[in-house]
Amino acid sequence: MSTDFTIARAAEFEGRDVALYGWLYNLRESGKILFPLFRDGSGVMQAVVSKKDVSQEVWQRVSDLTQESSLIARGAVRREPRAPGGYELVLRDLEVLHRVPEDTPYPIARKEHGPDFLLSHRHLWIRSPRQSALLRLRHEVIRSIHEFFDQHGFILTDSPILTPAACEGTTTLFELDYFDLGKAYLTQSGQLYVEATAAALGKVYCFGPTFRAEKSKTRRHLTEFWMVEPEVAFATLDDLMKLGEDLVTYIVQKALQRRRPELETLERDTRKLEHIQPPFPRLSYDEAIKILHRKGSHTPWGEDLGGADETRLSEEYDRPVIVHRYPAQAKAFYMEPDPERPDLALCMDMLAPEGYGEIIGGSQRLADYNLLLQRLRENNLPEEAFRWYLDLRKFGSVPHGGFGLGVERTTAWIAGIPHIRETIPFPRMLYRIYP
Ligand code: 4AD
Ligand code: MG
Repeated sequence: MSTDFTIARAAEFEGRDVALYGWLYNLRESGKILFPLFRDGSGVMQAVVSKKDVSQEVWQRVSDLTQESSLIARGAVRREPRAPGGYELVLRDLEVLHRVPEDTPYPIARKEHGPDFLLSHRHLWIRSPRQSALLRLRHEVIRSIHEFFDQHGFILTDSPILTPAACEGTTTLFELDYFDLGKAYLTQSGQLYVEATAAALGKVYCFGPTFRAEKSKTRRHLTEFWMVEPEVAFATLDDLMKLGEDLVTYIVQKALQRRRPELETLERDTRKLEHIQPPFPRLSYDEAIKILHRKGSHTPWGEDLGGADETRLSEEYDRPVIVHRYPAQAKAFYMEPDPERPDLALCMDMLAPEGYGEIIGGSQRLADYNLLLQRLRENNLPEEAFRWYLDLRKFGSVPHGGFGLGVERTTAWIAGIPHIRETIPFPRMLYRIYP
């Protein structure tokens, strides 16, 4: 009897006796045969139980199973092309660990529920095949990110989550009282701190939860999301665009290689992902605005691009598009001006195809002490809290830069699902903090 059996690896166990530790997902009866569908966390597998082949007790135990009852099912793995996944379990014995009683049935029946109901039952909803496929895909995205940076010589240096000052504007800060030291904030981005570790270690990244008190209720915004932020000493904007393009290509190709069954469960048209290969088109903000005006947008030169503009632009390409050199006035205080045109910032956003919007935002950072001090003042940021950040420009300042890639938006795009809230185990949004 093998104990390391999982449904995802059923093929390796063909012809062998196994124990499946899992839950009942569904039960179908057809005359003298029962077809329970079991799930074990790695996938869903059909079992067959023939009345003539099992004892009366085992037959009864299977017949009485209710949805999400937990169990150990024993039997032989058999190839069956018509079964989901291509293999089925010829059941011999069943042990019930916990039977869900009829009078308190599992709330998520196998029928349509509204999104609000499902989000309120998120702790159970994640058991459904689609939702667990999404969480496995998210895992794959995160694993590829760590692999990619490891292979490219980056050191993981985690940035703090409790911080004394804003990084991405003061309007989206979550504030809290920090003992006798006054206000502290949940981090909006680990960037400022990886600028310090990049000056210590060269190529670094941080990867953690980030927080934005976004009042926007869109399908692209969460109040708590995960961001990976590489930062590279001596990097130019061109280097950063190349790094972003290689990273995104790696993530997509690994998802295709390693998560085919999940993409199938999600009914993703994978042909749209196959050709995600460098080079990604690059557009200056000036060019982007021209295209947008031609397509009917009224966004004036000087403003950041909105979600609708991003969708219009991405419609033009079959792979992500990189927009660079936005007007400095539309972007954060820490960006290096373009020496050719100081009203522009040496920054870039990467927009995913199919209307998924911005997945990467990044820039070269202001390297000059005096200009940075001036920007802090113009933005009414507390100099005191940024003293350490200014220090980085006093002791061996170098050109440097990095970017942030949002895990949930990237996963939503690869999965082809409309709302990013399903790509994180427990989403936090304007109107939702439960469960
Ligand atoms: O463009 P953003 O705000 O950039 C920064 O925070 C920089 N400090 C990063 C850096 O240069 N190190 O955010 C970067 C990415 C976006 O492109 C998007 O993918 C994601 O983070 N993001 C969000 N994802 C979900 N919900 C939100 N509210 C998000 N805000 C940003
Ligand atoms: Mg941005």
